[in-house]
Amino acid sequence: MNKIKINDSELAFRDLGQGQPVVFLHAFPLNQSMWDEQVPEFSQKHRVITLDWPGFGDSSLSSADSTMPNFADVVAGLLDQLGIGSATICGLSMGGYAALALCRKYPTRVNSLILCDTRAVTDTEEGKRGRFETAELARNKGASVIVELMIPKLLGETTLKTKPQIAERVRAMIEAANPEGIAKALIGMAGRDDSTDLLAKLICPTLVVVGEEDTLTPPSESEKMNAAIPGSRLAVIPKAGHLANLESAASFNQIVGDFLKRT
Ligand code: MLT
Repeated sequence: MNKIKINDSELAFRDLGQGQPVVFLHAFPLNQSMWDEQVPEFSQKHRVITLDWPGFGDSSLSSADSTMPNFADVVAGLLDQLGIGSATICGLSMGGYAALALCRKYPTRVNSLILCDTRAVTDTEEGKRGRFETAELARNKGASVIVELMIPKLLGETTLKTKPQIAERVRAMIEAANPEGIAKALIGMAGRDDSTDLLAKLICPTLVVVGEEDTLTPPSESEKMNAAIPGSRLAVIPKAGHLANLESAASFNQIVGDFLKRT
């Protein structure tokens, strides 16, 4: 694991392999180890970069708010320090919100885009209220209370029934998160911009991927994004939920691998 200073945060990241760079952006409230099935696969032909958002995994908290534009700054800052001009950006859920913020703020840094289990629209007022309440809960009761709230939403029905080892892995990732990092990310997501207008302006090759059993960002959201992005392609992964890359790693890798070959 490498560390680099971005603003006032010690950012943990991995940088493996050679070739066209691919940056993987993790979901809330996990960390870069959610990409452990993708790193060995894609680093055979690509330079693969993964990172922990400030306050998650091995990255320290930042004094900056965890807004999506600030997360875009973190990615751009890391690319600068690694001497990378542009990359394929693959973001899942909150990672997808950050990827869209990067497309808005630094369009030349994104040469192709993979949006996984995410959405372009903002939260409803009720959704925002829920995030503020959960942020308070994390601050008062710690990360373990978030585990019980999140696991049933993050994993699909099939995984919950048949793959307990994945639920355990997700549990460990959430428990390792800094409660303040969780709270700040919830507040950051609640304040995110609606990216619907951006979709029609995306000119880079784009792939939209979603788990068939994703209830948090359901396939209908991916269908809408795919319809709005010029020339994009949609892949629905059977029997996978919100964490499609973990729940059906082989299918996910096949779909992303085919896309990378064509871009
Ligand atoms: C995520 O998986 O990153 C989050 O659950 C997304 C969200 O809460 O909107």
